Amino acid sequence: MKALLCTHYGTPDDLEFADIPDPAPGPGEAVVRVKAAALNFFDHLIIAGKYQHKPAFPFSPAAEFAGEIESVGPSVTGFAPGDRVIGNIGWGAAREQVAVAASQLVAMPTGLDFDRAAGLTVTYGTTIYALNNRAKLKSGETLAVLGAAGGTGLSAVELGKLMGARVIACASSDEKLAFARRHGADDGVNYAKTDLKDALRALTGGKGVDVVYDPIGGAQGEAALRGMDWGGRYLVIGFAGGDMPKLPLNLVLLRSYDVLGVYWGAWTERNPQGHRANMTQILDWCAQGKLSSHVHAVYPLEQAPAALKAIAARQVMGKAILRP
Ligand SMILES: NC(=O)c1ccc[n+]([C@@H]2O[C@H](COP(=O)([O-])OP(=O)(O)OC[C@H]3O[C@@H](n4cnc5c(N)ncnc54)[C@H](OP(=O)(O)O)[C@@H]3O)[C@@H](O)[C@H]2O)c1
Repeated sequence: MKALLCTHYGTPDDLEFADIPDPAPGPGEAVVRVKAAALNFFDHLIIAGKYQHKPAFPFSPAAEFAGEIESVGPSVTGFAPGDRVIGNIGWGAAREQVAVAASQLVAMPTGLDFDRAAGLTVTYGTTIYALNNRAKLKSGETLAVLGAAGGTGLSAVELGKLMGARVIACASSDEKLAFARRHGADDGVNYAKTDLKDALRALTGGKGVDVVYDPIGGAQGEAALRGMDWGGRYLVIGFAGGDMPKLPLNLVLLRSYDVLGVYWGAWTERNPQGHRANMTQILDWCAQGKLSSHVHAVYPLEQAPAALKAIAARQVMGKAILRP
């Protein structure tokens, strides 16, 4: 089978294509023919050796996939060849087939095609954990979403609306804000043109927002923190902007803020039941057509470097998908 391989740390152009042996399912495993694999921002970090996980070489990037079960190993129950499934395995999905523990597979939601199903788990899974379990977002509260047209950002816009919040999308272009509005955002702030703190305060009658969802960090992260109301909750999702903000703790003290870390992957391992409950909710909303899992573009596997470069260049709205 064809596989995209990372054989040493580097950039997207350092990735290699290779023919490697087809996998065989071990006990409890299924082999899935990957119809679509979703890229995330962290695929850049994992191939550069800058991510919290450092898989042994050679490995394939892409954590998530959707596909069809090709074969199952001994003692697998509940799945059979031909079943349409989605999975999240951390890395390794940028190849034609993957062997995975059947317990990591979920039946593919109805009403979604392979491309949209592939990118559903990491973004929406992270965000429902952030908004529901960490921030305990309540209906009627105001939620500011940074990087609102990106993968996690778009999921926060959509889930925030479904949870009854007023959503303020924050992004670096008017085109991205229009996209976020089409997906449910009530208001928009272009932080390339406008001071984010002032804009968040102006949109809330001077009070500030209740919750900030921040996947980008940097200077905008601190500006958003300063744009929160008394008792605001700041969700630390990631640092796509490159810099980790050094938050002024005097502000946290003086305004009684909560700064909430969100490490979704580790939480799913510590609380598999909670994760299952969240994913059941996500899949229900999907079946009802309430989540877009928007696909920005589909790339053949050979064009994975171009897809990764588009993510780094901030061009992707929603998800970049690979089709092996
Ligand atoms: N905590 C968790 O459990 C968890 C789970 C999943 C992902 N994450 C993290 O969340 C972050 C976002 O992931 P994602 O998949 O949503 O990424 P994405 O789809 O690439 O979106 C990131 C957004 O960040 C903004 N951005 C600002 N500076 C950027 C830069 N220098 N390069 C690229 N983007 C930049 C862009 O929006 P604008 O152009 O509008 O500014 C972009 O749309 C990553 O750091 C990822 O590791 C964390």
